[in-house]
Amino acid sequence: MFESLQPVSADAILGLIAEYKDDPRTEKIDLGVGVYRTTEGDTPVLQVVKRAEQILIDEQESKVYIGTAGSADFNSAMQELIFGESCPVDRLVTIQAPGGSGSLRVAASMILRASPTASVWVSEPTWPNHTPLLAGAGLSLKSYPYYNALNHEIKFDDMISTLKDAPAGDVVLLHACCHNPTGLDLSNDEWRTLTDIMVDRNLIPFIDIAYQGFAEGLNEDVFCIRHMSERVPEMIVSSSCSKNFGLYRDRVGTLSILAINDKARDVVDSQINNLVRTIYSVPPDHGAAVVSLILNDAELRSAWVIELTEMRERLKSMRVMLNDALILRSSKHDFSHLVRATGMFCFLGIPIEQVLRLKKDFGIYMVDSSRINVAGITPSNVNYLADSIIATLR
Ligand SMILES: Cc1ncc(COP(=O)(O)O)c(C=O)c1O
Repeated sequence: MFESLQPVSADAILGLIAEYKDDPRTEKIDLGVGVYRTTEGDTPVLQVVKRAEQILIDEQESKVYIGTAGSADFNSAMQELIFGESCPVDRLVTIQAPGGSGSLRVAASMILRASPTASVWVSEPTWPNHTPLLAGAGLSLKSYPYYNALNHEIKFDDMISTLKDAPAGDVVLLHACCHNPTGLDLSNDEWRTLTDIMVDRNLIPFIDIAYQGFAEGLNEDVFCIRHMSERVPEMIVSSSCSKNFGLYRDRVGTLSILAINDKARDVVDSQINNLVRTIYSVPPDHGAAVVSLILNDAELRSAWVIELTEMRERLKSMRVMLNDALILRSSKHDFSHLVRATGMFCFLGIPIEQVLRLKKDFGIYMVDSSRINVAGITPSNVNYLADSIIATLR
C-alpha cells in the first residue's frame, strides 16, 4: 500500500535549520527558526515553568485520563486570561487543545460540521501553516489583502473593502497580535471598524492568538478579542501557550467558541467534545497542568509576568538596535518598519537574491520571503548583521 506514496518536500524552515547547523562559520546568525531566544541564543525552560513542574512532580498523584475538554482549572484560567473577567461565560465554551495548531485543526472541523459551505478568509500573507491546517481539514480558503510590501504598511482599506463583499456566514481568520509573518497589527480603532463590518456583514471572527504578551502586554494584546466578544453573536478563538510559556513541545493551547446564546453554547459544548473524541480523545496534560498552576497562583503568576515582560522587552530592544545600526550605516534605505512591527517576526523587505547572498557570503539565515525572527538578534551580532545587510544592498 505505502509503496504508492511519493516523497513530500521537507518544510523549508527545517531545511534552513539543517543548513545553519552544518555551517562552520562562527559569526553565522539564525533568523529563520520560529522560537524565542535569549541574548545567549538559548531557548531555556522558563524558571517559573521549572518551579511549577517541581510542584507537579511532588504533588501529582495520578495520570489517569482527563476528559476530552482537558483540565477545567486550566480552561477557566485561560478563558479569563484571553477574554477578561467580564466575558459572557454563559455563551462561551473553552477546551484544552494540543497547542495552537491542534486548536486550529479542531476549529476547522467544527466549522465544517456547522457550516460546510462557509469559506475561511485568511490574510495575505499569513502564517504558512494556516493553509495546510485549515484546508487540510477540508475547508475552502480565500484571502484578503493585508500587507503592502512596498511601504510596509497594512492595506487596511483594501482589507475592509474585500471583507465587505464576503458572503454572510463566512469566517475571517485574524491574528490578535504579532501578526506572523508581517509583525504588523491593526490599531484599536481599526479593530473597532472591522468589528462593525463583521457584525454588519454577519461574518464570523476566528482569532488566532499565539503571542499573547509579546506585543504590548497581556491585556493590550487581546483588545480585539475582548472588543469583539462584546459585539459579535459568534466567534472562534484559538490560543497557543508555546511562546508565552515557552512550552513548545508540550503542546498547550485552547479553543474557545462563543455561541449566540446559552442554549447554543451547550450544543457547541457537546459537539466539540464529541469531535475531540474522534481525533485524539484527550489532550496532553503536562504542559496545561503547568500553566494551570502558574495562572491560578498569585506568586507564580507574577513571576511568569516578569519573565514574559523580559522576553517582550528584549524583542523590542533588538528591533530598535537593528534599525539604529542600519540608519548609522546608510541613510538611503528605510528600515523603520522594523520598529513599527511587534513580536518575533517581520519582513526585512529585501529581495530573494539578497536573502541568498546573506546566507552564502555572511552565514545569515532567513526564509526566502525575508521574514526574520528578531529573537535571533543579540547585542553582540547586531553590528555584523547590519554590516552584512548593507553590504548586500550595495
Ligand atoms: C500565527 C500562529 N498561530 C499558531 C501557531 C501555533 O503554535 P503551536 O502549534 O506551536 O502552539 C503559531 C506558531 O508558530 C503561529 O505563529
